[in-house]
Amino acid sequence: MSETVKIARTVHDLRKIVAKWRGRGHSISLVPTMGALHAGHIALVKLAKKKAGRAVVSIFVNPTQFAANEDLSRYPRDEPGDLKKLAAADADLVWAPTVEEMYPEGFSTSVRAGSAAKDLEGSFRPQHFDGVATVCAKLFNQVTPDIAIFGEKDFQQLAVLRQMVRDLDMPLKLIGMPTKRDTDGLALSSRNAYLSVADRKIAPALYAAISALAQDVANGADIPTGISTAKRKLTSAGFGKIDYVEVRDAETLEPVPNSSGRPMRVLAAAWLGKTRLIDNVAV
Ligand code: PAF
Repeated sequence: MSETVKIARTVHDLRKIVAKWRGRGHSISLVPTMGALHAGHIALVKLAKKKAGRAVVSIFVNPTQFAANEDLSRYPRDEPGDLKKLAAADADLVWAPTVEEMYPEGFSTSVRAGSAAKDLEGSFRPQHFDGVATVCAKLFNQVTPDIAIFGEKDFQQLAVLRQMVRDLDMPLKLIGMPTKRDTDGLALSSRNAYLSVADRKIAPALYAAISALAQDVANGADIPTGISTAKRKLTSAGFGKIDYVEVRDAETLEPVPNSSGRPMRVLAAAWLGKTRLIDNVAV
């Protein structure tokens, strides 16, 4: 375990380090993050260490994936804390560009996310996945990793990125890692820091409701009825607006009929006070 971790802040420095590693025959893994790291991120870094000779972690709060009314300005930031955690996890390099380095004066090209982005989160955050796809395309071009590792907590994000990598022939493999949860079931997320003490107690009801729905669907229950029950449970637990609770094809994210024999996923987003929580589970 090291005390400090190497940091690159310019594309020029990053490329020099990566070229040196490549020259020595090392493979490279990348864990893209927006910082405010928690145990879920650290599990991704540990997997990245196992999967490649050198593990790079990017920390960049990407402005282009936040709409004007979203939480960009208050998104949690803790670079000193993140660097300590990454040193302890033995990350080989932190890629932490400024906004100006990532989007220099004159930047104007972007990726339009494909069909996997079209509803669910895409309905409530219309530009979000274009911003995610663009910054990830840039991160992949900057770091040139052999593999990139993402948490399944953002299940639709992973589907959108898999589609981008496939459609644009990007030469890397994406790996999804199961969501890390607190002991009461709440999915770890940097945004959990926004929850009040009272809302934090209610929050695990989201996982409980979608897990019960997944179990019912697996047992053959009618999907629309199951969804209504899950929404009722969220409302009575104390959730406010429910953006969606859906049962979808786990690969295409298309709606599924009751009788689908294909792998399915339950996905949900709902508000607790001013905090929007998302979660998903396999059926
Ligand atoms: O999941 C995230 O933290 C972000 O969406 C990502 C993939 C780092 C892109 O900014």
